Amino acid sequence: MKGVREFMKFVTLNNGVEMPIVGYGVYRVAPEETKDHVLEVLDAGYRLIDTAQQYRNEAGVGEAIAETDIPRGELFITTKVMSNERVAESLEASLERLQTDYIDLVLIHWVMGDDLATYRVLEDYVRAGKIRAIGLSNFYGDAFDEIVSNCEIMPAVNQQETHVFYQNKDLQEQYKELGIYLEAWAPFGAGRENMFENPILAGIAEKYDRSVAQVILNFLISKDIIVIPKSSNPDRMRENLDVFDFELEAEDVQTIEAMDRGESLFDWFS
Ligand SMILES: NC(=O)c1ccc[n+]([C@@H]2O[C@H](COP(=O)([O-])OP(=O)(O)OC[C@H]3O[C@@H](n4cnc5c(N)ncnc54)[C@H](OP(=O)(O)O)[C@@H]3O)[C@@H](O)[C@H]2O)c1
Repeated sequence: MKGVREFMKFVTLNNGVEMPIVGYGVYRVAPEETKDHVLEVLDAGYRLIDTAQQYRNEAGVGEAIAETDIPRGELFITTKVMSNERVAESLEASLERLQTDYIDLVLIHWVMGDDLATYRVLEDYVRAGKIRAIGLSNFYGDAFDEIVSNCEIMPAVNQQETHVFYQNKDLQEQYKELGIYLEAWAPFGAGRENMFENPILAGIAEKYDRSVAQVILNFLISKDIIVIPKSSNPDRMRENLDVFDFELEAEDVQTIEAMDRGESLFDWFS
């Protein structure tokens, strides 16, 4: 098998930690299917696995980590916590379920309760060497500012709904200035609004002899946005990794930029 650096691009987070720019999210993977699913995903070439305490499938991810031959140092494991007074306890439980001594990236999943207090616990875990990088997810406006203004360790990423219909152009600019990476959840908008059949994207895909999915991911990573697509199909899993060896021309980039509607397709967190 090819070494991961032969086909994967990495970003360097603001604390020097390297993170693959394409990963795989296991949202809605059933707990009992997660181990085999993650082993398949690793076999396809992914090294970044994005889970969450809320997904209830960390244990399956941990079983895959324990079973794979891929050294732990080549894997990049993200999980997410919810704010509560027992967040340290919940992190210990995550470490145990994930069968690992450290987690590569821990995010606060969404705004809830005393997030600054939770963030301070995450900072302690970084200092203790049990977490390599920390960040946020679904933090906008005041909630984002509160953490950034009061933290001792700057968030490394903010994971937000981001795709061609909702590009977060203002956040792309703001985060660049702050040294924070934007990470796109649902980079295909979970297929909403017929994204895969969109005629504009289909036209561009045809021009490059690529799929619509590959054009979408190439567009996002060309803007240094980390992406975590999901596919239950092994061929599409591989297709979504094969996105590095072409470059969209400026006119196609502009065409896709103009598809931004500036509105969520989910409206879960606004
Ligand atoms: N932080 C948060 O609050 C949050 C919220 C939502 C999601 N997330 C993360 O983001 C990850 C991805 O989001 P998501 O799964 O909701 O949506 P997504 O990755 O945008 O889209 C998944 C859909 O796209 C289809 N698909 C994938 N690759 C394809 C391809 N090459 N061609 C055609 N169809 C393709 C899949 O169908 P098939 O399976 O049939 O291929 C599936 O229906 C999650 O797993 C999770 O880790 C985070």
